[in-house]
Amino acid sequence: MPNRAATRVVAHRGASGTLAEHTLAAYKLAVDEGADALECDVRLTADGHLVCVHDRRVDRTSNGRGVVSTLELAQLSELDFGSWKAARAATGTADAHDTDADTDADADEADWADAEHTSVLTLERLLEFATGCGRRIELAIETKHPTRYAGLVERRLLELLHRFDLVTPADGERTPVRIMSFSQLSLRRVRELAPAIPTVFLMERVPLRFRDGTLPHGARIAGPGIDLVRANPGYVAALHRAGHRVHVWTVDDPEDVELCLRLGVDTIITNHPRRVLDQLGR
Ligand code: G3P
Ligand code: CA
Repeated sequence: MPNRAATRVVAHRGASGTLAEHTLAAYKLAVDEGADALECDVRLTADGHLVCVHDRRVDRTSNGRGVVSTLELAQLSELDFGSWKAARAATGTADAHDTDADTDADADEADWADAEHTSVLTLERLLEFATGCGRRIELAIETKHPTRYAGLVERRLLELLHRFDLVTPADGERTPVRIMSFSQLSLRRVRELAPAIPTVFLMERVPLRFRDGTLPHGARIAGPGIDLVRANPGYVAALHRAGHRVHVWTVDDPEDVELCLRLGVDTIITNHPRRVLDQLGR
């Protein structure tokens, strides 16, 4: 019998089925919806900041053009990362510009609320939100194209995680962070820098070298895509037999959710956390 209550639900790029991906508003909604964890992709800007952006370029998710790594944070901050997402209107989310602001304080609040929907999100701001949101929320942070930066992505990431006491928390709790990558090199670097942080080896197809369920560089968790799982359902059992937890992305279709439950998948990563939680009866 599938253990619905035990299956964890991760909000992929925030509640990105509803609000623009990687915006603070999408992460706040995911927490409000009851997600267990927040997934984000991180990239380095030209001036060395980690920002939450999925693509190499900003073209798809903003009103600008260009490669993230060639732009400084100040330039990214001038772009609108939210208005492309038409679904925002469909949710009935109040448009800050439509409110009657009686006082300056109201106007400030409205501006801030709007910025949450449209501003580029730094990883620092996301950590600030996640650590201050009033409940334990886990973080699944994915390093994107880390090979280009000779380890800088991982070093900057670990610096930030240390600053927020998220590597080996002083209260003795286990870290709420895991670091994910398709890159074995990135996983190796993280293991060297912070062996206490669990890493997730992401995969789109069953890797020939690891088809027995073992994982590279001490990765504790396997992160197969749902297409891989549909095509190779037995691989989940192999991963479990090898002692790994299995986190599957990106699972939005209710039939795929049921498949994951039948296979005993530990964590479902989805763009629609509330819908999946409803299906799990949580
Ligand atoms: O959670 C893992 C998943 O996000 C990997 O794929 O392309 O959505 O980053 P992608
Ligand atoms: Ca990702």
